[in-house]
Amino acid sequence: MKSADIRESFLSFFESKGAKRLPSSSLVPDDPSLLLTSAGMVQFKPVFLGARDIGVTRATTCQKCARTTDIDIIGTTGRHHSFFEMLGNFSFGDYFKSEACAWAYEYSTDVLGMDPDRLWFSIYEDDDEAEAVWRDEVGVPQDRIVRMGAKDNFWSAGPTGPCGPCSELYYDQGPEVGCGLDTCAPGCDCDRFVEYWNLVFMQYDRQDDGTLEPLPKKNIDTGMGLERVAAIMQGVHTNFETDDLRVLVAVGEGLSGVSLGAAEKTDVSLRILADHARAVAFLIADGVLPSNEGRGYVLRRLLRRAIRHGRLLGVDDAFMVQLIDTVIGRWGTPYPELVDNAELIRGIVASEEERFSATLRQGLAFLTEAMERAHVGGETVLDGTEAFTLHDTYGFPYELTSEIAAESGLEVDHEAFEAAMEAQRERGRAAVKDESWSFGSAFDEMARTAGATEFLGYGADEAESTVVGIVVGGTSVERIEAGQEGEVVLAATPFYAEQGGQVGDTGVLSADDTRFAVSDTRFAVPGLVAHVGILEAGGISVGDTVHAAIDVMRRERIRRNHTATHILHWALRRILGDHVRQSGSLVAPERLRFDFTHFEAISAEQLHRIEEMANHKIMENHQVLNYETSLATAREMGVTALFGEKYGEIVRVLEVGNFSKELCGGTHVAWSSEIGLLKIVSEGSVGANLRRIEAVTSFDALAYTDRVEAELGEAASVLKVGRFDVAERAGALVKRVKDLENAAQRAKSHLSGFDPASLAEGALDAGYPVVIAQVPDITAAEMRGVWDVVRTRLGDSAAAVIASKDPESGAPLLLAAGTPGAVEAGFDAGSLIKAIAPRIKGGGGGRREMAQAGGKDASGIEAALSEARSALGVG
Ligand code: SER
Repeated sequence: MKSADIRESFLSFFESKGAKRLPSSSLVPDDPSLLLTSAGMVQFKPVFLGARDIGVTRATTCQKCARTTDIDIIGTTGRHHSFFEMLGNFSFGDYFKSEACAWAYEYSTDVLGMDPDRLWFSIYEDDDEAEAVWRDEVGVPQDRIVRMGAKDNFWSAGPTGPCGPCSELYYDQGPEVGCGLDTCAPGCDCDRFVEYWNLVFMQYDRQDDGTLEPLPKKNIDTGMGLERVAAIMQGVHTNFETDDLRVLVAVGEGLSGVSLGAAEKTDVSLRILADHARAVAFLIADGVLPSNEGRGYVLRRLLRRAIRHGRLLGVDDAFMVQLIDTVIGRWGTPYPELVDNAELIRGIVASEEERFSATLRQGLAFLTEAMERAHVGGETVLDGTEAFTLHDTYGFPYELTSEIAAESGLEVDHEAFEAAMEAQRERGRAAVKDESWSFGSAFDEMARTAGATEFLGYGADEAESTVVGIVVGGTSVERIEAGQEGEVVLAATPFYAEQGGQVGDTGVLSADDTRFAVSDTRFAVPGLVAHVGILEAGGISVGDTVHAAIDVMRRERIRRNHTATHILHWALRRILGDHVRQSGSLVAPERLRFDFTHFEAISAEQLHRIEEMANHKIMENHQVLNYETSLATAREMGVTALFGEKYGEIVRVLEVGNFSKELCGGTHVAWSSEIGLLKIVSEGSVGANLRRIEAVTSFDALAYTDRVEAELGEAASVLKVGRFDVAERAGALVKRVKDLENAAQRAKSHLSGFDPASLAEGALDAGYPVVIAQVPDITAAEMRGVWDVVRTRLGDSAAAVIASKDPESGAPLLLAAGTPGAVEAGFDAGSLIKAIAPRIKGGGGGRREMAQAGGKDASGIEAALSEARSALGVG
């Protein structure tokens, strides 16, 4: 039997027993006390606890599961995984042990056709009832029933919560497969007895203090590992040789040229590649992105471990995407989220692989330095905290660090490393645990008795409705009085409760003299809408009828922003590509914020095109349709589901024209032109591969452009130009400031120590004082400045012949200048320059008072000055 056939046969077998086939829930659980969905029962936890009714008492699922506890041994065994599929059947206060056992036996022997002589059954040490069921009702031989302790046969989802004794089914692969020891029996660590199905008799709720409270009803939770059963059915001894996983292993073989079975060490790496690639693809498809904490860290660790094992197998180029493509191809049919998010999964994996390849190199440099320090200090041990930094900052697996250290004769201080790791794990645990669900709140009770709140707000802004509950200070009360803050629950309401990024409505609940101001609306528990606010006047009692009216103007703005968000999402995908996925949003009255996956910065030009495209769609005035349909129909229509989001069977679709179709429960405009105008006000990075755009629409967009215009107007008046010349003038001014700064800088560096005034001291006597000198490199204009200084020192009758080199080009420059007094006494700057300029291969001239020349040959400067000395008779 192929894996796909086993999956289908299990689900239809339990359907034939009256169970409803339900979809797998996301790997990201709806339960803040859990990091990842680790079992089929996770989505049913509130049902077991009696806090939620899902309308059926029997269910069957094939659940995507991820477990982190086994990561270190994955690959060293043939049957542990970071990701696996769990087939399960569940009873919520309906059938119990007799049926659970009988059906597990029936499915194993009749449907799968397992040889009954190979089956073994473990039970909890004091569960006589389970033993009686197996022996007397199912008819299995007494000697195949083994009793085990709490470690093996008492199952719980976590330290607290639903739990109970369990019974497991084992398949004996035969003595040739196992360890061969006499003591080998179910529960042995070897591969002989495969534990393939766990039947949990869920009847307790473990409290914080460890005590077991009986649950309101007795339940069944069973979990059968699809990969393990496939291995049994396909007669192979490891899960990695079953049909689907074998294909994935083969990709690793192709990449590395190493075959499965060649050596234990390479087998481990090949298995890790297959296992981790599958987990990575499924995690990203459910909305997990690589990060340094929580589930993002699990994802990153798996990716890096796989990449490193690729390197160990000799694969030096990027290879993960090839494995990922195989996962999408093999599992895409039962799990369409892989196909829907294919571009994104590939993009994330490729970018992480590229990043890690870079840190691998940097990490090696860091390690080399750390090892050198240790050697210089005469150490034989490498500090464990260095290994931790390598692990934490460079993503270096500990084993890699210790391997390389060993090559250079150093041992890593493992204890210090572990201590640092433990401290980090503590931080991780604290982060995951800080909020915890409380079942049994005042609202739970209300949800049970009153049922879900009916939402009228798609069509109405106001309505009359009955008060079904009031909560003040966390307790359910019959009446709320003026001045009290509280939460009011109605049978039906036009108020939208915060969800999907759209903020909750505000407004008023009123009756005669009563007025309750609603400042927010939220889901107190799933399905139950609470109006949060303060009773300003009068009083409200449970059972009263009130008039509920939302703040219509505010909702209008929210509607525009919400529809605009969908159009923006569409435009982003058009311009940037299909890997763009919404990963979070905020739809408030005054603005919208949209977070999405993208792997690089967005250029100004792209941003402009995105905004332009969105506005085109807005102004084309498309009709906006918002309606309910089944999830299956929506999928067929190609509706975009929100990345990482969970949906029920009936979903709401939002269609804008014929270009955007998304699942969305929010409130929207009827025609796109109501949005008026969309202006993007900011764009930037908010994490690895995540970007954020903020935008405003309609009147807020107008207000935004008004502000921009006012700023521009002010800038224009300061610069004294027209509005559309601001950039040019500002550019010119900036350039001028730069030039001046450069000149000042040059003056500082070239003229340091040069005081033009000191030139005067070296003046010669030509009947009037004359300075003839070369000065540090300055421009022609600066030379005139030097002359200005010199003449103030020398009085009415003075002259100068100054040479310099242009600081930029190095070309020689000459300046001759004289006061009117000197000119009267015969000084002629123009003819002097004409006479000496040829010495610097140049030419020039001017008036009798002032003349300048530039030349090509700076080596002639001295000759030019000496000729000037002779000409003036001072040589
Ligand atoms: N919850 C149990 C397990 O995970 C049975 O499904 O083993």
